[in-house]
Formats: sequence, structure tokens, C-alpha cells
Amino acid sequence: MRKGNFPIEKFKGIETPFYYYDAELLKQTLKTVKGETKKYGFLQHYAIKANANSKILQHIASEGFGADCVSGNEIKAAIDAGFPASKIVFAGVGKTNKEINLALDLNIFCFNVESLPELEVINELAAKKGKTAQVALRINPDVDAHTHEYITTGLSENKFGFSLNHLEKAIACLAKLSNVKLIGLHFHIGSQIEDISVYKPLCDKVNELQDWFESKGVTFEHINVGGGLGIDYEDPNGSPIPDFAAYFALFHTNLKLRAGQQLHFELGRSIVGQCGSLITRVVYVKEGESKTFVIVDAGMTDLIRPALYQAYHKIENLSSDEPVERYDVVGPICESSDVFAKDYELNKAHREDLLALRSAGAYGEIMASRYNCREIPKAYFSDKI
Ligand code: LLP
Repeated sequence: MRKGNFPIEKFKGIETPFYYYDAELLKQTLKTVKGETKKYGFLQHYAIKANANSKILQHIASEGFGADCVSGNEIKAAIDAGFPASKIVFAGVGKTNKEINLALDLNIFCFNVESLPELEVINELAAKKGKTAQVALRINPDVDAHTHEYITTGLSENKFGFSLNHLEKAIACLAKLSNVKLIGLHFHIGSQIEDISVYKPLCDKVNELQDWFESKGVTFEHINVGGGLGIDYEDPNGSPIPDFAAYFALFHTNLKLRAGQQLHFELGRSIVGQCGSLITRVVYVKEGESKTFVIVDAGMTDLIRPALYQAYHKIENLSSDEPVERYDVVGPICESSDVFAKDYELNKAHREDLLALRSAGAYGEIMASRYNCREIPKAYFSDKI
């Protein structure tokens, strides 16, 4: 079984579990994204929610990316890491006054507004400061992303964005508000999208909507199509970098951008997903009635994706090359859902073996919790270890 390239000797002295980031792969991924977006002049706002590790953020900021934030604290983290406020977009269905005021004080690039009441509140708070807030309307396009239901966002039943039949009202409302300026349209249909052809109906919808808005005399400086490009969880060694070329080409071919109009993206997972692994140690190998459990020292508090979305993460035994056996790989948390994999083929496992849970760079470290009073896992980088 082909395994990732890990400095196992260096790992031996480090307390587990911990996140390990391949700095070189992150660099290569960013280089690929930059190269592919440059071809078409597209702009990138990295979705901070995927991973807000300060070193990762600093690295992405230093490559000239903007940031997509969904809370006041994400905006602060972006600024601290060096993202300029002029490249920050702020989305989220429940922006509070405190968060809106922070964003106004920092003069961020754009609020991605999700409802009429939010539009009115931003206008009111901006007026108090004598400012004009730039806004984009987040529209729920009712396009199916064909991904897990918990990470589908662009269906009419989801809580996100303006529904299509409220757009007329939004235009009327905007005409009355003097402290917001409409500059864009925003969409995001879901995450871990493996079949990129689902973006084609999104493009068709955006084209249709632009025609409709123009018929009402409304034009936009930019279109933002969100993120969502999936990664290969099955084969992180074979596909370390997603097919950005095909993804950006699809939008270039199918979206009818107007003259001078910019296209923005908010990729998260596809940028950081494959560069991270969760390294954990086998605590016990336990014989059950009909199966063998490999009990590790990482749990759902360190990586919640398998428990929350039944997500698959490839697991490698870094300490053993013995013939594979079948195990349930489980964590120590007092929850039956604290399972990383069932009936999983792993090189024969022993107490103290080190395992790598792969493709954990996105929505891994950032979703860690302190349940059971556990420590938040530390992070190490391949160039600093
Ligand atoms: N833009 C917006 C408005 C979003 O809601 C998201 C993700 C993104 C961009 C970035 O999407 P990405 O390129 O990373 O797919 N915790 C879940 C994923 C939640 C995604 C939430 N929104 C998971 O572990 O699969």
C-alpha cells in the first residue's frame, strides 16, 4: 500500500495526536491555483473557515490571496495574518451588530448579504459611521451540488442567501438605502463537489440572473461563485492537487461575464485539504466479539468529519509494513460515533504504532473541540519540525 511521505523518526518524540502539515504541498497547491486563476484574471478569497492555523493563513496571505470570512473573529484572524482589509469578504446568515461594526471600521471589501433585514441593519450601522458599505447579494440559486446534505447550501430549502422570489424586493429596498452600495452577486452551492459539471447549471443560473437584473437597470462590478471544489479523499497520494485547471476553465467557458466584470472565488478545502494529516498513536489493540478494535489517542474532538458526515479519511499505519488486517479504528471519546473507520484494512497494528489520518487539512484542526476536557491538538509543519 502506497503511503505518504512522513518523517516518522521525528514524529516519535512528539506528543500525539497532532496535525502535521506538508508545507511544500501547500506551496505547490497555491502556485497551481495562482497560475490557473491568472490565465483568466480571476480573483481568489481563501475561505478561512477551512483552516485558520496562523502559519497557514500567513502563507496564503503572503501569496496575495484575499480572504472569505464568516465571523468577526475570522476577520480578525485574517487581518492578523496579513490579509489586507481591501481583499476581505464577509458572509454569513447571522452577522451581529458587533461583527458588522468591526467590518465597517476596517473598511472590508464587501459584505455578502443574505437577507433583507441584514441589508437594512448594515445600512443603518454604516449611516451611523458616515460610511457606505459595499455589498453583494448572496443568492440561493436552487442548484443541487450533489454532495452530502449537511454541506449542500444552494437549495431553496437551505437557510443561505436570498431566495429567487425575493430579489425584486431586494432591488426596491436597495433603492431606498443610501449607505450601502450594491457591487456584486454572490453564490455558493455546497462543498466537496466531486463532479464539477454541477457548476454548469450554476453558470446558467448566473447568466440568467444577470440578464434579469440588467433588465431592471442593475449591474454588477463582480460575480462571486463561492468555493466547493472537492478533493480526492480516497487517494491523497495519487491526487495531491485538485484539478484546478478544469474547474476554472469551466467557469471561463460557461459564465458570460460583462466587460470589466471580475470573477471571484472562495475556495477552502481544495487549497488546504490535502496538505494536512492527523497523526495519532495506537493506545490499545483490543479483541472484540467479532472484530478487532484499534483504539487510538485521537478522537472526534480532533477530527469530527467521520462522526459528523460519515466522511472517509484514508488511514495509514506509519509504523508497520506487516500484512494488512481488518480493524475498526476508534477514538477514546465516550460516544459510539467516535469511529474513524470500520472494517478497515491496515498494516498489522501494535500498541504505540503511529497512524496518519490523511486529507485532514480542511475542516480538521479548526473544528476541534474540548469535549471530555481534551486538549486542542497542536500543529507542526514539515519545514519546521
Ligand atoms: N464560501 C462559502 C459561502 C461557504 O459557505 C464555504 C463553505 C466556502 C466558501 C468554502 O467551501 P470549500 O471550498 O471549502 O468547499 N465542515 C464541512 C464543510 C463545510 C463547508 C461550509 N462552507 C466539512 O468538513 O466537509
